[in-house]
Amino acid sequence: MASLRAPPPLPAIPAPRELPVLGSLVPFARDPLAFLRRMHARHGDLVQIRLVNHRLVMVSDPELLETVLVGEWRNLHKDAIYELTRPLLGNGLVTAEGEEWKRNRRLAAPSFTPRHIARYAETMQACVDDWIAGIRAGTDIDLFHEMMELTQTIVLKTLFGDVSVDVSGAGAAIETVMNEFIAEVQGHRRLWPEGFPSRGRRRVARAIALLDDLIERIIAARRAKGLGDDLFSQLLAARDDDGVGMSDRQLRDEAVTMFAAGHETTATALTYTFLLLATHPDEDRRLAADPERATPVLQESLRLMPPVWAIGRETQATVDLGGHAIPAGIQLLVPMCVLHRDPRWFAEPDAFRPDRWVDPPERPRFAYIPFGGGPRVCIGNHFAMMEGAIALKSIAPRFRFEALGPVPPPAIPSITLRPKGAVPVRVHAR
Ligand code: HEM
Repeated sequence: MASLRAPPPLPAIPAPRELPVLGSLVPFARDPLAFLRRMHARHGDLVQIRLVNHRLVMVSDPELLETVLVGEWRNLHKDAIYELTRPLLGNGLVTAEGEEWKRNRRLAAPSFTPRHIARYAETMQACVDDWIAGIRAGTDIDLFHEMMELTQTIVLKTLFGDVSVDVSGAGAAIETVMNEFIAEVQGHRRLWPEGFPSRGRRRVARAIALLDDLIERIIAARRAKGLGDDLFSQLLAARDDDGVGMSDRQLRDEAVTMFAAGHETTATALTYTFLLLATHPDEDRRLAADPERATPVLQESLRLMPPVWAIGRETQATVDLGGHAIPAGIQLLVPMCVLHRDPRWFAEPDAFRPDRWVDPPERPRFAYIPFGGGPRVCIGNHFAMMEGAIALKSIAPRFRFEALGPVPPPAIPSITLRPKGAVPVRVHAR
């Protein structure tokens, strides 16, 4: 059974009052975003929180984040939460560390430079146009489901070079993994023995088997077609100094990572953006009349509703954080959901105001980090912004959406803040 003992409290870093054994698990599990915002309001830029056997230090000071994301990045590995995604993502770019990460990042980087992704614009536009052609005014749609399908198609056609593989079960399988994953992080399962074969854990195993099979078919289809200039072809062709290529296992891990990281985040971002527009008709009309506003609208949506709402690191050695010696084994939490609504950097932080990005005032570099920062910044950053802008520019002049459910919709705070279940909207012709 996993040890339930957490590292001892850190002197001089504020902490809330906490229960024995559970620590802050109950309020955190109930509503993690609200809990973290409350902790920041009460205790400031550094606060320590215990979740059963993990001690977290939440860092909300952009200057200290420079230390976390840039200065000390070698001493900080992805945290215990990422570890839970390993059955799905294996040792792909999101979860790998050290030399393996460095090698794989070097291999993947050329496929994500602004120059290279400019080539994907036409494909992205064609996917969005197809999507628009299938939508009828006057009907009701599940916006999140639609955006997931659109962004899956875009990833497959750009990064995997237009392989025609049926991916219809993939969204549901990833949803299963993410739902169960959050139960592992936040629920009473923290108290269960590792590897205990519960019904949920068996469901995850089945979903991963389905995704493995899907990725195998994508790899086979790509090999059969011959190599192109897409990301996956580059990975297939890559050789290290000894002339050795990636093993099938490495290819599988990289493929599932790119597929998962490359669509759910963008689908979540587009869903929230259209919901924000649905509830801000003036902004919606301005965007429809001037599609160039797509970028500030997207930036503002990523500020208010960051799809990745927090990231974590675990100290591998003692790290100096603003004069505090943080020993090895502590989880550092970087909370986008807190940073992005900090009134020190954003006036009226809860308001949706795309204009704040038109001529932005000076603010610290790490006050706005929807894509993270430092060497492990999102490799798909430019890809996602281009994809989002193309979708907004093309869809907004044609349709407006009326939200039929609550805004924001109920969400599952997994790695992404993904909407829970359907997001119903009515489509209106502009
Ligand atoms: C709005 C969309 C997106 C958001 C908000 C987002 C956010 C993030 C964040 C915050 C990280 C850093 C994680 C950390 O440091 O712990 C990250 C990493 C990553 N993202 Fe994204 N992402 C998006 C789209 C994409 C796309 C489109 C792709 C691929 C096509 C992608 C692939 C990756 C990969 C592979 C990493 C790991 C990079 C590394 O560690 O070297 N992401 N993303």
